Amino acid sequence: MVRQLQMTDQISAVADALRRARTIAAMTGAGVSAASGIPTFRGADGLWKKTRPELLASREGFEQDPRLVWEWYDWRRQVIRDARPNPAHDVLAAWTRQPGFTLITQNVDGLHEKAGAERLIRLHGSIWHVRCWQPCDAGRRDWRDDTAPFPALPPRCPHCGALMRPGVVWFGENLDTEDVAAATAATRCDVFLTIGTSSVVYPAAGLVGQARGHGATTIEINPEVTEASDEVDIAIRGKAEDVLVAIDAVL
Ligand code: OAD
Repeated sequence: MVRQLQMTDQISAVADALRRARTIAAMTGAGVSAASGIPTFRGADGLWKKTRPELLASREGFEQDPRLVWEWYDWRRQVIRDARPNPAHDVLAAWTRQPGFTLITQNVDGLHEKAGAERLIRLHGSIWHVRCWQPCDAGRRDWRDDTAPFPALPPRCPHCGALMRPGVVWFGENLDTEDVAAATAATRCDVFLTIGTSSVVYPAAGLVGQARGHGATTIEINPEVTEASDEVDIAIRGKAEDVLVAIDAVL
């Protein structure tokens, strides 16, 4: 049930809930990086409006055309390389330094880390990680590669010369079991915030419902109505970079 309150009342209500909470979890999506100039996936100018996700973010797509997939990732890596964290990342990074706070993200852009976030659970991997597509023994595990742009596409595994793939979770792939376990454990909290996500990609989208099931006060921060809006206690219609700063100011 969404409480119909003015935004200032909502912000005080959220600040009260956060002050009282011993344990807090926040999950973020592409919307928290929008103010840093990184396009979201499903908005009006979203990446998935211009192309089919299964073409660029799936094993099948990569098998069909690894160069096309890498052209897209190489372009995004260049956009992200030049992006700076915005006030939403800064507030969340400061909150991660408080005991009992867990930050979970679906974002692969590394901006939470750049802002100094600690104990971050990255559900969808990192665009700065790569691994061998085969995989060869040496290239089985992800490693960090900051090259952007790559001199030649598709880039090759430095260990065996086979194709290299981005270290992100693609459609149809399983998430890392330890990350899912950590995120699931974090839903046993007093307050759960879902911020800047359309809440359509599972299992991430299911976390807010799990938190609610465990008795958490649930809060959404998003300028648009989402799949989660009806199931949260407080839905704040605003931008993460404004609303988080406003909440932090009254804490
Ligand atoms: P989406 O693009 O689906 O949703 C972005 C959400 O951010 C939308 O609900 C917008 O209304 C909201 N938004 C836009 N600007 C905002 C702002 N300034 N402040 C707060 N919210 C804002 O992105 P995700 O929900 O993150 O998966 O997408 C989930 C997953 O789908 C991604 O991790 C990616 C994608 O396919 C993989 O790469 C595996």
